[in-house]
Amino acid sequence: MGSKTSRLAKPDHVVTNAVGHVTTNAHRPPHARENGDIQATVDGASHANENRDTHAEAHPRLKGPIHAERHMKIVCVGAGASGLLLAYKLQRSFENFELVLYEKNEQISGTWFENKYPGCACDVPAHTYTWSFEPKVDWSAVYAGSDEIHGYFESFATKYGLHKYVKLRHCVTHATWDATRDAWDIDVTDLATGQTLRDRADILVNAAGVLNDWRWPDIEGLKEFKGVLVHTANWDRSLDLTGKRVGLIGNGSSAIQVLPAIQPKVAKLTTFIRRGTWVAPAQGFEQHVYAPEELVTFRNDPAAHLAYRKKQEEGTNAIFPMFIAGSAAQDTMFQMMTRQMREKLRGKAEGLAEVLIPQFGVGCRRITPGVGYLEALGKENVEVVYGDIERITERGCVTAVDGAEHELDVLICATGFNTSYMPRFGVVGEGGRSMKQEWAKEAKSYLGMAVAGFPNYFLVIGPNSPIGNGPVLVFMEAQIDYILKLANRWQTENIRSFAPKREAVEDFVAHKDQFMKGTVWEHDCRSWYKSNSVSGKVSALWPGSTLHYLEAIADPRYEDWEIRYKGNRFTWLGNGLSQTEVDATADWAYYVRDHDDSPFLGRKKALKVLNKSGTVDRREITGFLPS
Ligand SMILES: Cc1cc2nc3c(=O)[nH]c(=O)nc-3n(C[C@H](O)[C@H](O)[C@H](O)COP(=O)(O)OP(=O)(O)OC[C@H]3O[C@@H](n4cnc5c(N)ncnc54)[C@H](O)[C@@H]3O)c2cc1C
Ligand SMILES: NC(=O)c1ccc[n+]([C@@H]2O[C@H](COP(=O)([O-])OP(=O)(O)OC[C@H]3O[C@@H](n4cnc5c(N)ncnc54)[C@H](OP(=O)(O)O)[C@@H]3O)[C@@H](O)[C@H]2O)c1
Repeated sequence: MGSKTSRLAKPDHVVTNAVGHVTTNAHRPPHARENGDIQATVDGASHANENRDTHAEAHPRLKGPIHAERHMKIVCVGAGASGLLLAYKLQRSFENFELVLYEKNEQISGTWFENKYPGCACDVPAHTYTWSFEPKVDWSAVYAGSDEIHGYFESFATKYGLHKYVKLRHCVTHATWDATRDAWDIDVTDLATGQTLRDRADILVNAAGVLNDWRWPDIEGLKEFKGVLVHTANWDRSLDLTGKRVGLIGNGSSAIQVLPAIQPKVAKLTTFIRRGTWVAPAQGFEQHVYAPEELVTFRNDPAAHLAYRKKQEEGTNAIFPMFIAGSAAQDTMFQMMTRQMREKLRGKAEGLAEVLIPQFGVGCRRITPGVGYLEALGKENVEVVYGDIERITERGCVTAVDGAEHELDVLICATGFNTSYMPRFGVVGEGGRSMKQEWAKEAKSYLGMAVAGFPNYFLVIGPNSPIGNGPVLVFMEAQIDYILKLANRWQTENIRSFAPKREAVEDFVAHKDQFMKGTVWEHDCRSWYKSNSVSGKVSALWPGSTLHYLEAIADPRYEDWEIRYKGNRFTWLGNGLSQTEVDATADWAYYVRDHDDSPFLGRKKALKVLNKSGTVDRREITGFLPS
């Protein structure tokens, strides 16, 4: 059987893609090489047209065992945390694949490479901002800085050899679904040479980030400013603010972090705020630089470190009831946060508490642990200017309320991102329909991961993923697991394409909209969760907690998917032999055992095993009910 590999045009360990990128395929399993005839033919089959004899194409599977694996090419847009995780999981669980992560930046790690403003740090305890399976024992502080987080993802990529999949300084500009070949044609600009390349993939994953397209504020005269104009997400580290008159627009998470970091250096800091926002440690973990002895414990006592991580993760998982409007948890949090903010603002400029403490529910906008923010607002060199900026002149900002011109040397825009979810590259799906058309009114996803009419196309952190509902990295793991479950079926069955059914997407969106009515996210605040609107639909969040999401997507509901096959859908049954029988090293009686250790089949009992039900003594579960 091994000799059949000679039917492949090239030696079987080398695959060259359309842009000449060579990847090794040496990890192909023996049986994949043995089934070289299936390999070659099925690969070829993916390039035929609608009128082709798809039964004939799938037919060669009949010569091999069940679930014969075909070669799978995946292209991913972006090498931030999501793209790297895809590479890790694909490499860990699959053979016989090719993967390319196109990354426009000169380094990996996305958010944590781009956001270098002073004070940039995670807003959740860093020990919860690691992959569930990849702890880091030496975070310097509870809320670690952006360079450290960047370092975490770099180390992750190095440890697992993921850099080989990444093509840096390559920007994806367009992707078109080719129904005649069941593949994505992808245009990529090599930013070093300016040349455009064409690549092709069986599956396209968009991991381009929802907080990646930073935006200037829409204020008249912005470009007339003669001083230094900078955005937090495009920071210039050579910028020296010492002794300067600095203006800061915004009081979102970025502004809350940058203000206390620069305040001690600058001559004067004028911060322009349009509305109040909640500022406080949300999860009860105050900022704290780890002492050397704590770091020694984390390093030398894995059980203690695991217990610490779990405690923080549980704390983050426990916040969800707060997002339910009128819940006891929201009420308690509202009062506690109000008290805390009043306390921190006591004795500061008159009336500050009145304008800064909001009336909308806690969590309507993302809460940031404002380490030192409120305290810094009261410093002598800080002026809080409340209200709209009417226009920007060459000297500074003119405020609407009094027409006063605030003269500045540097203007920092902490004004956030375009969070419309519309990809910044053209995406054209089935029937030539573009994503711009599909999402003209609203970005509608299937469970945060896929779009009706766009076959073999996945999103990581797509619309209505749980990006603000609780822990984040673990839901990204769940999304990639889900994507790879479908990829697995694509690879081992004679599937041409899969896309979520339109009615499934509509039902999900209708349920989500109904759910959101009962949350604080629909309160009267402007937030990127609602595409930077005050009263728009909640497009960024999942209708439930992160733990809820993990359970929701654990098992794909294939009935929600439009699955198209090459020919007879059962051709993958093959020649009647199992994969076990073609593996001479396998135990051919693996099911014979001396007790029943099989997993429970009922969802509830199976979950109780997974979540270790009965091992924690939690006396009461509160917070969900109206107070
Ligand atoms: C300042 C800041 C702080 C944050 N803090 C937290 C936090 O504390 N906790 C938390 O849970 N989340 C936080 N987030 C959210 C954070 O974005 C996610 O946690 C996570 O890092 C997202 O990873 P990602 O890979 O999906 O996206 P990104 O990190 O945005 O990566 C996307 C990558 O895709 C690349 N890309 C985009 N378009 C193209 C293209 N056309 N072609 C090629 N490459 C492309 C980008 O260059 C980028 O490298 C923060 C976000 C910001 C902006
Ligand atoms: N780890 C962290 O702590 C951290 C740090 C940064 C970012 N993030 C993530 O990134 C998200 C975005 O945060 P962000 O702070 O960059 O953006 P943001 O939350 O969208 O805040 C943007 C700020 O700019 C203001 N603004 C925008 N346009 C304006 C204009 N024309 N005039 C005056 N003010 C204007 C907004 O005012 P209004 O509120 O009045 O609209 C708001 O205060 C966060 O929610 C979070 O998910 C996290």
